[in-house]
Amino acid sequence: MVPQMRIHWMTSLFLLILCLAARNQAPWHFLFLLFTLSFILPLFLTTWLVPSGFAWHKYSGNGPIAPGPIGWPLLGSLPLMGPLAHRKLSDLSKSHHASRLMALSFGATPVVISSHPDTAREILCSAAFGDRPTKVSARLLMFERAIGFAPSGDYWRHLRRIAANNMFSPRRIAALESLRHRVADGMIHRVSKEMERRGMVVLRGVLQKGSLESIVGSVFGKSPGELEEGKEFMEMVREGYELIGKFNLEDYFSLGGLLDFSGVGRRCEQLTVRVKALIGKIVEERRRQGDFCKQDDFLSLLLALPKEESLSDSDIIAVLWEMIFRGTDVVAILLEWIMARMVLHPRIQAKAQRELDAFVGGRPVQDSDMSNLRYLQAIVKEVLRLHPPGPLLSWARLAIRDVHVDKFFIPAGTTAMVNMWAITHDGSIWKDPWAFKPERFLQEDVGILGSDLRLSPFGSGRRVCPGRALGLTTVHLWLARLLQQYNWTATSLPVQLSECLRLSLEMKKPLVCRAVLRDLAMEANHA
Ligand code: HEM
Repeated sequence: MVPQMRIHWMTSLFLLILCLAARNQAPWHFLFLLFTLSFILPLFLTTWLVPSGFAWHKYSGNGPIAPGPIGWPLLGSLPLMGPLAHRKLSDLSKSHHASRLMALSFGATPVVISSHPDTAREILCSAAFGDRPTKVSARLLMFERAIGFAPSGDYWRHLRRIAANNMFSPRRIAALESLRHRVADGMIHRVSKEMERRGMVVLRGVLQKGSLESIVGSVFGKSPGELEEGKEFMEMVREGYELIGKFNLEDYFSLGGLLDFSGVGRRCEQLTVRVKALIGKIVEERRRQGDFCKQDDFLSLLLALPKEESLSDSDIIAVLWEMIFRGTDVVAILLEWIMARMVLHPRIQAKAQRELDAFVGGRPVQDSDMSNLRYLQAIVKEVLRLHPPGPLLSWARLAIRDVHVDKFFIPAGTTAMVNMWAITHDGSIWKDPWAFKPERFLQEDVGILGSDLRLSPFGSGRRVCPGRALGLTTVHLWLARLLQQYNWTATSLPVQLSECLRLSLEMKKPLVCRAVLRDLAMEANHA
């Protein structure tokens, strides 16, 4: 039934009961209650019982609104945003025939979700969605002064340019190859130690430590052995990761901290004090040493910027913190998924190893070998398709003005998300979408850096991930090194692919497996 009709019926019903009660001389307070309800309830229902929920009630006259669920009173569809939000939103968009665009309400915030490459492109590549909705935690953790949450004005452009030239340029990425190898050596060593000690490996810790060493090395120029602050950085990243992924009602109903029941705001403030103290100390020391022009880590390059381009110390701290924060979790998470797939699909693992043996042989693989390792690259693409680390592209976009997508009206202030997980599991886009088949990318070369919205795990458009080349180069090299060194097999515990969406999409149960040293000579004879 159309919501407006329901409201009509409700009002009439209340008035009818009121008349009957009055005729039968019901007590005055009962009559008063009925009278009040007959006014309040329709008012409540006209704002809540509208298509797509409460947040859209005032826009019904502005043009067609995308279909979507009404949701709960006040909360709207917020209760869906749990550890499997990407799956629930995908089911919902199918049941509302809203794959191209679905509108819903998160409290008082209007939200649209695209589960289709066409509308995904319209959102991600449009200047109208150039900002991100800022969460309370992101603001308190200084990310508004870093690339990820800065509004898309001059400051954000300036930061992206600095990062593109000094952190993510092909020259910088190539210069960091020896660091990536040293970190890979350390990971291989830790794997062999764990195997000796326990006869199995929990890879998550090894990968997280490696990712942190690598990103801190590129940001501060410290090699893995010299990293005294490593443990503290790891704790800070974990705490920040938990805080930014935590659900906070204050993000949807701003009541000056009253709704922050789990104390996210207070914990963010405490963490920011620690971040400022630790990174601030490193910045100060480097400035005192004064030899930053001779070094080429990101901090030194920031300090050596010409005066007209320079950043304040607090902005330098925010930018460095963001790099460490973003660079640590996502690379480790992606590699854990890849290794889980290698353990589950020994035939595919062996094929990747044969490719490595054929093109690289017994020497350690190099970045320059990657163009020959097409199957290995296809494996990474297939894992990004089945397990995209940012299934809802993690950091949403914000409409900065009224705009139309796919002819639907979207008011300024709407949060826009792309459900990349729904797109990469859509049977009308991908043949056999649930099967793990890297071969599909040998048959068709699909670009994954943002040009083809069927598979855009790094986003697209002006806010596309600036760290994608660095992230992919790191993942390719470490995967190749791990496969060259060991055969990866299951333990008696089965590998579970269940998911948990926090800031990124993690494996719910950490991967536990066995790593057996490969004997290249023997395997060559077998082949
Ligand atoms: C394999 C790894 C990675 C994946 C899957 C990934 C994914 C993403 C996604 C989906 C976005 C949002 C894009 C959009 O809104 O269109 C993003 C943004 C971002 N990523 Fe990555 N990322 C990865 C690695 C990295 C690394 C290594 C760094 C830095 C060290 C990094 C830094 C950033 C930053 C700063 C942004 C915000 C860009 C902006 O708002 O202008 N990412 N990433």
